[in-house]
Amino acid sequence: MADFKEAPADAPLGVKLMTWVDNRFPATKMYKEHMSEYYAPKNFNFWYFFGSLAMLVLVIQIVTGIFLVMHYKPDANTAFASVEYIMRDVPWGWLVRYLHSTGASAFFIVVYLHMFRGLMYGSYRKPRELVWLFGCGIFLCLMAEAFFGYLLPWGQMSYWGAQVIVNLFAAVPFVGPDLALLIRGDYVVSDATLNRFFSFHVIAIPLVLLGLVVAHIIALHEVGSNNPDGVEIKAKKDPKTGIPLDGIPFHPYYSVHDLFGVGVFLMIFSAIVFFGPELGGYFLEYNNFIPADPLKTPPHIAPVWYFTPFYSMLRATTDPMVNVLCVVVGLAGIVSALALPMRGKIIAVVGAVVGIFLLKTFDAKFWGVVVMGGAVIILFFLPWLDRSPVKSIRYRPGWHKWLYAVFVVFFIVLGYLGIQPPSDIGTLVAQAGTLFYFAFFLLMPWWSTIGMFKPVPDRVTFTKH
Ligand code: HEM
Repeated sequence: MADFKEAPADAPLGVKLMTWVDNRFPATKMYKEHMSEYYAPKNFNFWYFFGSLAMLVLVIQIVTGIFLVMHYKPDANTAFASVEYIMRDVPWGWLVRYLHSTGASAFFIVVYLHMFRGLMYGSYRKPRELVWLFGCGIFLCLMAEAFFGYLLPWGQMSYWGAQVIVNLFAAVPFVGPDLALLIRGDYVVSDATLNRFFSFHVIAIPLVLLGLVVAHIIALHEVGSNNPDGVEIKAKKDPKTGIPLDGIPFHPYYSVHDLFGVGVFLMIFSAIVFFGPELGGYFLEYNNFIPADPLKTPPHIAPVWYFTPFYSMLRATTDPMVNVLCVVVGLAGIVSALALPMRGKIIAVVGAVVGIFLLKTFDAKFWGVVVMGGAVIILFFLPWLDRSPVKSIRYRPGWHKWLYAVFVVFFIVLGYLGIQPPSDIGTLVAQAGTLFYFAFFLLMPWWSTIGMFKPVPDRVTFTKH
């Protein structure tokens, strides 16, 4: 049996109760480890608001989701009407639904900013690789969650969006058509599809998501937070207390700091929920107010904004783009063959030949799917692609900042183009953006090492305020 501690006989009731609990469950220990004695760097800035905001949005989504499920009917004949019923007849139903639909977009805004912070400050580098990997898993789950959820209102966009995306899986060589059939549960998107998407949206994915978020935080608290300087605060500890010299307890300092972020976030969030929940058709597409009609394809089908950068990459992968990729693979083979020793030369040449053969064997639609999936999967490799001698962008050469800026601009432009109907010029720009996106990551082992790096200070930079 564990060592039981006894509270003094004259201790207040609360202390006695906590002692009773602590003897059976590590409540105080966990509170100390993750709150009052979790020492976070004292130089956190604006970019450190988004982790706690992502948690807030996760809670909003779960709570509003629970109430939506009480009234929603996952049946192709009644789904659309049940959402209208929630909007018109269920007391406060309109609010719950708008909180959930706005929450979906807010989730992606917050998570994209959270990920960009990681990119800027090298938060994925040793020893935080697992924090990043769990994060990438979360991102994948979020995308799946949003995709499954979008079918549920059974509007025109829900229906045709799902049709387009599921059909993409049919492009996978050999198993594609069977795979698409398995996902749909039918030959077209139908009631069977709605039922399985509902099941994934309300239970399967949220369970995985919650597990990953817990793992994300445990991994982070094991190694400690990074900061805008990319300096490890654990390297300089007070010899007496063992507390990092630049660390401050998460609670109360950052709990209060995060509360401020929550306040500002809720103001913006409520403004959208109450005054413009459709946000010009970006958060709720107008075509989705029309019930799904399997016999009437809308003239322009576009996914919701948070998928469009990746959707643009899919559309950019045309036959001419595959030819460009063949040239890129060929050039990469030649350059590697020239630079590497004999064994490497052979591998480079064989690899390039096989690569070009495969590119020309399967059609562009399939490669589009590979490019779209690859754009997300490549994020998992970031901790090993970045070879820069410093973590934070602050101490990198000036031109690295420009590279990051161009990356962001291209990502936004890809997002914009993905919403627009296809055009010749749009496709060209999307192709340039796609090539830049992949070059940014694939050439990172090379470019991240070059240029004049600034000396990294021993301690974090901090001005009292
Ligand atoms: C539901 C989604 C997510 C939640 C609730 C969440 C939560 C958090 C929290 C609370 C922190 C600590 C506070 C902070 O540093 O802001 C954190 C840190 C971190 N997160 Fe996430 N996160 C999510 C998604 C992601 C994703 C998608 C990635 C990347 C692919 C990611 C990568 C990181 C990294 C690298 C850190 C450490 C940052 C540092 O110490 O500088 N997170 N996360």
